[in-house]
Amino acid sequence: MNSPHPPPVPVVLDVDTGVDDALALLLAATHPALDIKAVTCAAGNVSLAQVVDNTLGVLAIARRADVPVGAGAEGPLVGRPRDASHIHGANGLGDITLPAHGRAPVAVHAVELLRQTLEESSEPLTIIALAPLTNIALLLRMYPSSREKIARIVFMGGAIGTGNITAVAEFNVWADPEAAAVVLDSGVPTLMYGLEPFYAATCDQDAIDALAASSQPAAHLAAALLGYLTAGRGEEGRVPGGHAPLGDAGTVCAVIDPTILTVVDAPVDVALAPGRTRGQTIVDLRRSPVGTAGTPASVGVVAAVDVARCRDLFVGTLS
Ligand code: BDR
Ligand code: CA
Repeated sequence: MNSPHPPPVPVVLDVDTGVDDALALLLAATHPALDIKAVTCAAGNVSLAQVVDNTLGVLAIARRADVPVGAGAEGPLVGRPRDASHIHGANGLGDITLPAHGRAPVAVHAVELLRQTLEESSEPLTIIALAPLTNIALLLRMYPSSREKIARIVFMGGAIGTGNITAVAEFNVWADPEAAAVVLDSGVPTLMYGLEPFYAATCDQDAIDALAASSQPAAHLAAALLGYLTAGRGEEGRVPGGHAPLGDAGTVCAVIDPTILTVVDAPVDVALAPGRTRGQTIVDLRRSPVGTAGTPASVGVVAAVDVARCRDLFVGTLS
């Protein structure tokens, strides 16, 4: 007899936890459609040590202390790390303090954990990348054959239009543009979940109240994190008043239910030159690009998301 549900999608998450990475981890750890094989950490929103601590703490709340966590890159491929604690708070979690988790990351570097996890998997894995892409770029450069075991990379990063850390650059790509260029150029099927869906998918106060009313600790934490985000930190008018963006958690929704997305295929390039455009993703939406010599490979770019279904997926799963 056929099973009524398809088998869960095996995934690895790469995170820089981060308020919205925490929301993403809670969703991924809870939803039965995903099977988390490992979580790898990179410096981004806060330092690597803080990211690792936050990640272990969030997984403990989600009752997923069985998931191996790897500590990875302490900074980008080029230059020094630059964090986003002005948005995420000094501890990266909106100054919400989590209970002690009593766990340590695995003894090997995150890139090694990624390699091992891919190698040991009987089927290709989906990488959900929610941080600067340093760990993923290192994996692709150090172990090129690992590409065969990657089903696809779904990454939160970039923008079709306006940026958030500069006028044209989104934080994850801006924080390590060379790494993003390596990933986009890798030939691995890639989906870019950029700032357009990142800010479009939000929770209103009713949704936050529903989470707060749940008996589940994961739902309570989600309500507190979303409550922090309703103050409009860093959104520059891109989110309606009283709403909290799901941010990275929307990327997880996109893997759980791709039917909530409108996706276009387009060549995507990263601006690497120093100056005001560094870290911009150049998404070529022309139907018939002219002067195609050297045109970058096409990737899937999320142009829109069904906001109500995305929110219902998040709230319904956690509460
Ligand atoms: C991205 O940058 C980080 O601050 C968030 O966690 C998200 O991954 C948004 O630009
Ligand atoms: Ca993130």
